[in-house]
Amino acid sequence: MIEQVETKIHVLIVDDIPETRENVRKLLYFEKDIEVVGAAASGHEGIEMARDLRPDIVLMDINMPDIDGISATESISQSVPEVQIIMMSVQGETDYLRRSMLAGAREFLVKPFSADELTASIRRVHQLKPKAAPVQPELLRPQRVPSRPGQEAEIGVREGEIVAVYSPKGGTGCSTIATNLALALKEKEERVVLVDGDLQFGDVAVLLNLQASRTISDLVPAIDTLDADLMSDVLLAHPSGMKTLLAPPRPDVAEMVTADIMREILKNLMLLNDYTIVDTASYLDDVVLTILEISDWILLVMTPDIPTIKSVRLFLEALDALDYIAKTRLIVNKTSRKDGITEKDIASHIKHSVWATVPRDNGTVTAAANQGIPVVISSHKSAVAKNLTQVAELLRAETAKEAERPRDRAAKLAAGTASEKLLGRIFG
Ligand SMILES: Nc1ncnc2c1ncn2[C@@H]1O[C@H](COP(=O)(O)OP(=O)(O)OP(=O)(O)O)[C@@H](O)[C@H]1O
Ligand SMILES: [Mg+2]
Repeated sequence: MIEQVETKIHVLIVDDIPETRENVRKLLYFEKDIEVVGAAASGHEGIEMARDLRPDIVLMDINMPDIDGISATESISQSVPEVQIIMMSVQGETDYLRRSMLAGAREFLVKPFSADELTASIRRVHQLKPKAAPVQPELLRPQRVPSRPGQEAEIGVREGEIVAVYSPKGGTGCSTIATNLALALKEKEERVVLVDGDLQFGDVAVLLNLQASRTISDLVPAIDTLDADLMSDVLLAHPSGMKTLLAPPRPDVAEMVTADIMREILKNLMLLNDYTIVDTASYLDDVVLTILEISDWILLVMTPDIPTIKSVRLFLEALDALDYIAKTRLIVNKTSRKDGITEKDIASHIKHSVWATVPRDNGTVTAAANQGIPVVISSHKSAVAKNLTQVAELLRAETAKEAERPRDRAAKLAAGTASEKLLGRIFG
């Protein structure tokens, strides 16, 4: 999509090889909205020209004889922070990718690239350029703006619910439940976003058959200036209308999304959505703990087997120490009459009532995962889909009940200490 621009996107090329500079120039020659304003033959020259010309985008080569593209990127990001940098490098340099992103680059183009790839990247990065001021604390409260001249009205910067779907054991069904729950909520709610909080090995893109062309890592460089425009540039829409924030393309990029960054992103999503559903990984690191902390609800997923029951009991004890029990709801997934472990057994063993159950149905759930169409859409008449839809109904009912009680959101949104407390409790 070509952005409507009044002025052209100004591009500076930095590459020590003359043919590459010329090739890139040629690739951009016929683009009406893009203009190459300069070409530098070294890292030093690139830094100087970026300062003088203040282009919108710098196309930066990595391997250069004087200073390399990563150091030049770092320098430009500091001295001319409004300039957006796209790295260009040859394949197989994953460590370069990570270091480039940390240095402040916005994208990474693998050479050789086509004109389409190049122009799409330039336009995308240009669009991501922060246009507005940073999110002000007052945005966290409902705002008053005039609806008609002379009259003021409350507008709906309403805080939606953040719901974490978590299990201390892997493979219990968090991703399946999170995707179906989000889709079931979307049937009635207008604004639902599903966040893949399993940053390293997230499955949401696969379960929904989405191409992860934009992911949560695209928000990292702009984290201090997040706003609704920027968020909507990075969120991908599912055909249902539900929005998704997908996990980074590769595990090594995941570590750029720190706990503080996750908190900032969820705070923003909460203001823009009725429900923010977060699928999580089963290990407890700072990011997952922050998700659990900031969430209004923790849907704790388990399967009816002894090892999982034991882990869930331990986890519930830790949650108790943080007063998270009140917001925790237990879902038993993959139930089967043949198991011999009943809901009652589970409840008495872990001293926590079962909130919802979802039957085991290997054929239906596996087929849905392989097609990339979750069961609430592909097999909505199946028992598993009906129970998952019921989970959405239960959550709506709980939310409505809870809405009558004021919540201490401000305390929760501030940088938390609960993570440390919880870690101490679990490992101490
Ligand atoms: N109700 C169900 N009946 C049958 N199979 C199920 C059910 N729910 C989930 N599964 C299957 O169990 C496996 C794990 O599910 P899923 O990926 O949703 O779990 P997870 O907790 O997110 O796992 P991970 O720890 O890998 O992130 C998948 O193969 C999925 O198809
Ligand atoms: Mg998962």
